Amino acid sequence: MAKVTLEKVSKFYGNVEAVKKIDLEITDNEFLVLVGPSGCGKSSTLRMIAGLEEIDEGKIIIGEKTVNELEPRERNVSMVFQNYALYPHMTVEENLGFSLKIAGMQKNDIDKRVAEAAGILDIDEFLQRKPAQLSGGQRQRVAMGRAIVRRPDVFLFDEPLSNLDAKLRNQMRTEIKRLHQKVKTTIVYVTHDQVEAMTLADRIVIMKDGIIEQIGTPLELFETPATKFVATFIGSPSMNMISSTIKKDQEKYIMITEDGLNIPVPKSKQDVVKEGQKISFGFRAEDIVPLKFGNKPSQSWGHKSKVNLSEPLGTETLIFTNFGKIEIVSRMFTPELVRAGDELDFALNLERTYLFDDETGKAL
Ligand SMILES: Nc1ncnc2c1ncn2[C@@H]1O[C@H](COP(=O)(O)OP(=O)(O)O)[C@@H](O)[C@H]1O
Ligand SMILES: [Mg+2]
Repeated sequence: MAKVTLEKVSKFYGNVEAVKKIDLEITDNEFLVLVGPSGCGKSSTLRMIAGLEEIDEGKIIIGEKTVNELEPRERNVSMVFQNYALYPHMTVEENLGFSLKIAGMQKNDIDKRVAEAAGILDIDEFLQRKPAQLSGGQRQRVAMGRAIVRRPDVFLFDEPLSNLDAKLRNQMRTEIKRLHQKVKTTIVYVTHDQVEAMTLADRIVIMKDGIIEQIGTPLELFETPATKFVATFIGSPSMNMISSTIKKDQEKYIMITEDGLNIPVPKSKQDVVKEGQKISFGFRAEDIVPLKFGNKPSQSWGHKSKVNLSEPLGTETLIFTNFGKIEIVSRMFTPELVRAGDELDFALNLERTYLFDDETGKAL
């Protein structure tokens, strides 16, 4: 068990700075997820913690020890890769015990650890099979088992579920979360999938272009995104976002969209905007609903619009409609049937809208 600290850590590939002076404190036993679009520097960060990439600038501390100069095996971390990296000619049992055997552990002790890991992951039945005789999910479990037997201070996962189909991915996600509850070890987990991040993490680190955009619990990121990027990245469907300009209209500020819609700036934001400011204003699908199927919010703005497309998903229905010329999505939780072409009165809950300055991208 250990905490992990990154101090001003950078990674260069030639002239390209892939990770830019990152500061991060991962607490003992924490499940921390690094998430962000492809190429933002997640794997580089993880591989520097693992010791698979050199740390070009800054310091990484695991427990009390600065590990910059330590070999991967001296750091007491275990990494689980996307492609599992199992030895094809060995049985599951041999795969699980291999690293311990290399380390010179006695057979008795190895057997004990392998049995324990197999128990935790429910793979006892497969111990004598070869990897080729296992399903994708079972292989994934063996890969995790191989990490567990070493009793590392820190588990590192790099997109471990990317090769699995959707159903299995959900199942394994649950298993990884259970695994964390059982072994209570610090986990650093990399994914590009915001749903995976939201469901697994104690805290999420959102990265973009080699920097950290925001760190917070899943709900903090969902409720109070610090930037426009975080607001659109977290949550599904993605937050609706409308470019607008702030104007004063009889003592009160309003937003004028590019298509000329006039919308009042919410009361709580009246003091933070200024005349002529270019902003993006965002709202989630569940905060703009057809009036006849929902409750009218206390601070709302009415908008009449035709349905372009409706997706009844059972517990919810997604309705695609226009907001000026821009298509937005609305989500309602009542089972009423909505058809393309229906004209509906929508109520936008102004208290649930988000304003972002277009110059800085920061939340207002
Ligand atoms: N070995 C490498 N050589 C050169 N560039 C690399 C190498 N590994 C990664 N990069 C570049 O560094 C950036 C970050 O990559 P990576 O950490 O793999 O991102 P992520 O895991 O978030 O997709 C990308 O622009 C990628 O192309
Ligand atoms: Mg990667």
